[in-house]
Amino acid sequence: MILTLTANPSIDRTVVLDSELVRGGVYRARASVSDPGGKGVNVARVLTSSGVQAMAVLPAAPTDPLLSALTTKGVRYCAVPTSGQARTNITISEPGGTTTKINEPGASLTVATREELFDAVLDLGRDAAWVVLSGSLPPGIPTDWYASIVQALRDTPSKVAVDTSDAPLLALAASFPESAPDLVKPNSEELAQLTGANAEELERAAAAGDPTATVTACRILLDRGVGAVLATLGSAGAVLVSNEGAWFATPPRIQALSTVGAGDSSLAGYILADIERCSGADKLRRAVAYGTAATALPGTTLPTPEQAHPESVTVRALDSPHTSSPIPPTSSPTRSSTHS
Ligand SMILES: Nc1ncnc2c1ncn2[C@@H]1O[C@H](COP(=O)(O)OP(=O)(O)OP(=O)(O)O)[C@@H](O)[C@H]1O
Ligand SMILES: [Mg+2]
Repeated sequence: MILTLTANPSIDRTVVLDSELVRGGVYRARASVSDPGGKGVNVARVLTSSGVQAMAVLPAAPTDPLLSALTTKGVRYCAVPTSGQARTNITISEPGGTTTKINEPGASLTVATREELFDAVLDLGRDAAWVVLSGSLPPGIPTDWYASIVQALRDTPSKVAVDTSDAPLLALAASFPESAPDLVKPNSEELAQLTGANAEELERAAAAGDPTATVTACRILLDRGVGAVLATLGSAGAVLVSNEGAWFATPPRIQALSTVGAGDSSLAGYILADIERCSGADKLRRAVAYGTAATALPGTTLPTPEQAHPESVTVRALDSPHTSSPIPPTSSPTRSSTHS
């Protein structure tokens, strides 16, 4: 089982326009769709639709429509009761793929709710192959909360992944190596926040075929105790660095429709390959396949295994003498619905 924590869940509402958005205008939406959201929820949704047992831990009032939306999607959850309703995050989607996002801050959590969430993650996390801590923290939660969860899970056999940004990310890194997880999944901006690198340059160089600066930044985190870094670089693909090696993967050219949930899908793809004991190259391949599949889908739609195409991702090993030759997939992409 894979456990995900979403301290700041949301209803993600996508509104599709037929024309370009102009400030001050009045629009009739062509369509609108609501999905259960928040980064950990997204990871749990992708894993569930791939046939892997996942459980989303989140704060939610028992009557919150978010919970019925999760049930409709078949996602198991453990909800710690709160009084307020989950926030709504709005995505406005224009023709041509431009999206505008407006995220509410989320309701403040009480100390009691925070402690109950912490206990739920520890109790359920002990039996999980992975515990995934994802997303922003709502008002009322101290920024070093992820750091304390990682430290509390250190003595369990579960592996821990963290995907967050800004103050909670910096607070996590402030107590490395004690709070260093098995995996972090920064995008270029988050990797820059952690290491002082220049985010635009990381993506520009990788898009031109040179991921050296990204690998150097990832190695800074490895030296501080992190098990592996999956650095996603938007359309340039992603880099994986661990003690086993370093790899760079580039996606096929696609028509990008919506990047919402791309990073979450990458993380889910990595975990799917990890629990199948795939090689580092194939974990990265699956991560990029799922991230790219999410990008090719509209709004907050997340990919199924049939929509992810690992075979179309090019992976290179970076510290082997054969750096220029792409590595062929060593395992055929999973299409089964085996529970793990
Ligand atoms: N324009 C694109 N073309 C192809 N693939 C893309 C594109 N943008 C993103 N991806 C895929 O999605 C993955 C994750 O993208 P990105 O680095 O933007 O994640 P992120 O910023 O963490 O996303 P999120 O908004 O979900 O947090 C990339 O590694 C890549 O596989
Ligand atoms: Mg992200």
